[in-house]
Amino acid sequence: MKLLDGLTISLCISMATSLVLPGFDQLRLQQQNVLSLLPKEKIQIQTLSEIWSYVDCAIASLGPKEIVIDSDLSILKPVQASSIPRSEFNQWLLYQRNVSFHGVLNNIGGYGYNADNVSVGCIIASPSKSSPNYFYQWVRDSAITINTVIEYLYDDNIDDSIDKSELLEAIDGYINNIHHLQRQDNRSGKFKDGYASLGEPKFMVNGDPFNDSWGRPQRDGPGLRALSVANYIDLLDKLGIQKDSERLSFIYNEVLKPDLTYVTLYWDHDGFDLWEETNGLHFFTSLTQLKALRRGIELALRFEDYEFHRDLKNAYAQLRNFIVGRDSGFQDPRFPHIIEHPNLVDAPAHIRRNGLDIATIIAALRSHDVDDAGDIVNIPFGVDNARVLNSLTYLVNDMKFRYPLNQGRIVPGLTLGMALGRYPEDTYNGVGTSEGNPWFISTSSAGELIYKLLYLQYKYQQDFVIDSSNREFYEMFLDLPKDSARGIQIRIPFGSDTYRALSVSLIQYADSFLDVIREHVDNEGQMSEQFNRYNGYMQGAEKLTWSFGSVWSCLRWRNRILNLLATINE
Ligand code: NOJ
Ligand code: NOJ
Repeated sequence: MKLLDGLTISLCISMATSLVLPGFDQLRLQQQNVLSLLPKEKIQIQTLSEIWSYVDCAIASLGPKEIVIDSDLSILKPVQASSIPRSEFNQWLLYQRNVSFHGVLNNIGGYGYNADNVSVGCIIASPSKSSPNYFYQWVRDSAITINTVIEYLYDDNIDDSIDKSELLEAIDGYINNIHHLQRQDNRSGKFKDGYASLGEPKFMVNGDPFNDSWGRPQRDGPGLRALSVANYIDLLDKLGIQKDSERLSFIYNEVLKPDLTYVTLYWDHDGFDLWEETNGLHFFTSLTQLKALRRGIELALRFEDYEFHRDLKNAYAQLRNFIVGRDSGFQDPRFPHIIEHPNLVDAPAHIRRNGLDIATIIAALRSHDVDDAGDIVNIPFGVDNARVLNSLTYLVNDMKFRYPLNQGRIVPGLTLGMALGRYPEDTYNGVGTSEGNPWFISTSSAGELIYKLLYLQYKYQQDFVIDSSNREFYEMFLDLPKDSARGIQIRIPFGSDTYRALSVSLIQYADSFLDVIREHVDNEGQMSEQFNRYNGYMQGAEKLTWSFGSVWSCLRWRNRILNLLATINE
């Protein structure tokens, strides 16, 4: 037993902390404060934990548990946007944007040249007919990529080489095609039998059912489709296009409503995941379904469909509770990130997954409209959610070592985006199974997440608030005072110098994912599904519609945040 005074305790703290927790020496910065709070009289200290409790009390009594950083630029870590000169990179961005948009259009039946002899409005996943054969229409890929065309028109940045009315016709074709597919009885079930047919993931390019065995049903398709149809209705409003009421009522009653009804009926039923491999309930499926219900709730009111409005609201409330609650397992307290497949976390070793999956990030992107403030409250797991950001941080940390081609990007002291794949345990090589590879959609989704995060921050003028829940993400960009790990949060006020500097870092970081893509597309900007984990050569289905759509969407968000920043700085 020893009798110590405040000064000795404080010295002990410094020594103990640098021994026990290297780096904790930031506390020394506060030593004067701590010292003044420690007892002046001699007190008995027996164990290290007693010392800690003095430290905690002292820190607590220092006032609000918050450190504000607004002008310190020395905490910023270097980030590198691109490995080629800026001007060349900017040129590439413009070029790739155009190629990506056309990459989607080329694969639309009735519009694009890769989709000859394909029904009007059918979007082929890829023109590849063998090794692998992706010459089919997938409900998911089509819904996500037609949205590219809808957003393109919505942004109103039409270039002269594109005829706007032809694009609108292509979307109309897509809508009619949905109506046809919905009513094709198939191996997932019959339309008349509780809309079971809607769980079918993939169809022939002439609209016939696909009859081979497959991972079915997949229950994300109807919700994703409903989201695109809802966006199309918004687009018609924005463009002031008055469809005759018969057509509008057809779209609402015959196309949108069956898909939304499907979500209300089956959100709690097992199904295969978006990667078509595993049966259960999945974060991607649930969150995109939730957003679809939300959109349905708005539209049911508009179409004065009150009974259906009530059904949608009920399903929405239940699904939301499920997603945020304990039962889903999406937020497992053992992990800091989202769990895509909770039923596989503790599964036998040969099928076990650690829950990290780019699907969680794609889900956050597809289910949040950052321009709609309602989504911040109504849809959990937005682009600034700590678990979403942790999912990215942990995926990057895993894949930077998993895929040897990332080695060149591991530069000590420099923060850089990496080539990302679907999930760590992936073994699909684009044709069969051996080893998984990086994917274009995964890598571009990482970039899109960061642009969108920054857009959200600026749009709502939010401070950056960093605490133990999201600290690992922000530590990629900032040397944070170490004591913030012990319950103290850091606030970087909106518009401050540090805020602006961090914003630049985030854009550079997002750009660095696009830089990875730049390295691996071919000379014409064409993209397949994957690129080889060792040598970076493209592999898997060529000209994959979803790769183009996803890169286009990432570039769209890059433009949107840069435009927003430009208006603020004017
Ligand atoms: C084809 C699916 O589309 C893909 O996602 C999956 O990984 C493989 N089949 C597994 O064999
Ligand atoms: C395999 C992917 O895993 C799946 O999500 C996609 O729908 C198909 N490829 C078609 O692109």
